[in-house]
Amino acid sequence: MLMADTGSEPGAGHTPVMLDRIADLLSPALTEPGAVLVDGTLGLGGHAAALLEAHPRLHLVGVDRDPTALERSRARLAPFGDRVEFAHAEYDEIPAVLDDLGHGEVQGVLLDLGVSSPQLDEAERGFAYSHDAPLDMRMDRTQGRTAADVVNTYSVAELTRILREYGEERFAGRIAQAIARHRAAQPLESTRVLAELVRDAIPAATRRTGGNPAKRTFQALRIEVNAELEILARALPAAVERVAVGGRIAVLSYHSLEDRITKRTLTGLATDTTPADLPVPLPDHRPQLRLLTRGAESPTDQENRANPRAASARLRAAERIRRP
Ligand SMILES: C[S@@+](CC[C@H](N)C(=O)[O-])C[C@H]1O[C@@H](n2cnc3c(N)ncnc32)[C@H](O)[C@@H]1O
Repeated sequence: MLMADTGSEPGAGHTPVMLDRIADLLSPALTEPGAVLVDGTLGLGGHAAALLEAHPRLHLVGVDRDPTALERSRARLAPFGDRVEFAHAEYDEIPAVLDDLGHGEVQGVLLDLGVSSPQLDEAERGFAYSHDAPLDMRMDRTQGRTAADVVNTYSVAELTRILREYGEERFAGRIAQAIARHRAAQPLESTRVLAELVRDAIPAATRRTGGNPAKRTFQALRIEVNAELEILARALPAAVERVAVGGRIAVLSYHSLEDRITKRTLTGLATDTTPADLPVPLPDHRPQLRLLTRGAESPTDQENRANPRAASARLRAAERIRRP
């Protein structure tokens, strides 16, 4: 079993999800000298540290959009010296990052989507409904619109769509109306006020079931603020493109919308695209990928008990079997 030193600084605060299974899936591609793994969501470097440890000749390119995460993983991965390179970028910029660093094809890509534990735990970043903080929610605070910008400027129709699609919120319309009523009097700027407003907007009977009623609204705003789904939809084909034949990609999703994009991309490239009316498969239409997971895999019950934040994780992985 791979070990992640989650109990000690500077890696403390985030337990890498499905670490052993990810290592099993990626490792066959990472053993050769010169193998390069791109970790597109470096976070605190938990998966990265374990894989670097397990493969002494592995080189890692660590990408994250959050400068704070990069700073921490830099400290944590310092013992690996020049085997690690860091890039402050979005994961849909992986091809440009690899070009800049002089890498061509890579043997592995890992994407562990979503928010890291420190992002959730640092109250002032505004991701959590359980602490009062400014409505920010940007993973990269050096750019882009905040959650306050979204709730104070989007139309009721846009807010309703976002809450329904990204939060799967049944009461999206009521919540959007309540936001509009509030901002007509004064701008909505705090996580606490938003959480209270959501609670008051939904029927009393629903309030008593299914955890904090603001959870779905906060998830939806976070996805919108960080353009998570658009970036993922662009990033996956671009990252797969750089995977060498025999190289592998693993993607951990945390909600059904991410998993759907991952499934569509990987399954699409693992499917023979010869037109159905032709009698034999065309060589140029053969699959480029072989799926390594049957459907999406979930964490074991034991892992879920030990790390409740792993519970919604879904893992898919594939190997490149040919280049078009
Ligand atoms: C769940 S954490 C990764 C944890 C990491 N695997 C570990 O073991 O420590 C996800 C990370 O991805 C980063 N991230 C999210 N969206 C990103 C994007 N579009 N581009 C680059 N990094 C992103 C977040 O800032 C966060 O640090």
